Amino acid sequence: MAGIELRALHKRFGTTDVVRGIDLTVPSGAFLTLLGPSGCGKSTLLRMLAGLEAPSAGQILFDGSVVNDIPPGRRDIAMVFQSYALYPHMTVAQNIAYPLRKRGVPRGERDAAVARAAEVLQLTALLDRRPRELSGGQQQRVALGRALVREPRIFLLDEPLSNLDATLRSHMRRELVALHRRIGRTMVYVTHDQLEAMTMSTHVAVIDGGRLQQFGTPAEVYRRPANRMVASFIGTPGMAFADGMVATGRLLLAGRPLALIGAPDGPVTVGIRAEDVEIADTGVAACVTDMEAVGHETLLTLSGEFGTVTARAPADCRLAPGATVHWQVRPAQLHLFNPETGDRRNAALSPITSSNETTAP
Ligand SMILES: Nc1ncnc2c1ncn2[C@@H]1O[C@H](COP(=O)(O)OP(=O)(O)O)[C@@H](O)[C@H]1O
Ligand SMILES: [Mg+2]
Repeated sequence: MAGIELRALHKRFGTTDVVRGIDLTVPSGAFLTLLGPSGCGKSTLLRMLAGLEAPSAGQILFDGSVVNDIPPGRRDIAMVFQSYALYPHMTVAQNIAYPLRKRGVPRGERDAAVARAAEVLQLTALLDRRPRELSGGQQQRVALGRALVREPRIFLLDEPLSNLDATLRSHMRRELVALHRRIGRTMVYVTHDQLEAMTMSTHVAVIDGGRLQQFGTPAEVYRRPANRMVASFIGTPGMAFADGMVATGRLLLAGRPLALIGAPDGPVTVGIRAEDVEIADTGVAACVTDMEAVGHETLLTLSGEFGTVTARAPADCRLAPGATVHWQVRPAQLHLFNPETGDRRNAALSPITSSNETTAP
């Protein structure tokens, strides 16, 4: 059954269209990430799911039923925000237990739920403290705990890890994934961080300018980005783009044949990921224009007539800026885009070998 379905969902504030017609169906139990740059409408979308904003048009369905007119308190959701609002006069335990107390859950059951949540979130030693005695990260975990104990049908999380330091963030990423696996509830997670989306989600909805750019698994959006926006947003470093040309069955970059291609003649944008670029003795000539050591490897910026690509090299790479190198990429690893619309183009690509080199037109 569809856990969440959005039908032509719109949101307008005054004269500004913030969400511009989103259609989406996610199965029950999914970990859906709404991923996109700041201001693209993610929080607005999440707030509509929560019932905190009314759609200007379109429908929201939970488990097959339209919830547009159901108030937040009756949607069986729990929401965690980036800015957590804890009750300052209550202890951590009381803050976490609050939704259960409000619902009239008996003391013993409440305490057991708080103990479970505290253990998952590493808050057991802090249960008697008050919010002002906690770090920002600890406060955020209390806010998560408060959502957790409610065991809602759907969890809505708006950038919940963005105030945490890097170590705690990566720890909490794994905790949230484990939690999702354990409880099997639908989670909708808003982030602008593609790494979070790629590591945590079962499904990713990439959003830009209030429009859905692509919906798929993390592997799908990485391997087959639907357009240039998705291609450059997913993966680090982002995909590089170069101006290519299709001429009589060959894909050319700066006049140099790169692959055999089944596509009509004309310009094409070629997308190349750093992880697919190989420094070799032959191939496209380029100059090393920048080097960035990132610990376990070095990122090389390679520039030439074709434009600029990024390549990964070992940490002990001996090249220096200004050096001339050659690079290659396997034709199957190339991504093609329409230069005007930025949409993905699909075409069969195959290597140029010495045998077909002579027979190719
Ligand atoms: N209540 C509001 N009134 C007017 N504009 C709003 C309101 N809420 C959000 N916006 C605007 O809508 C756009 C999307 O905001 P938001 O959904 O918060 O984006 P994101 O969460 O992706 O950063 C922004 O340009 C923001 O200024
Ligand atoms: Mg936001």
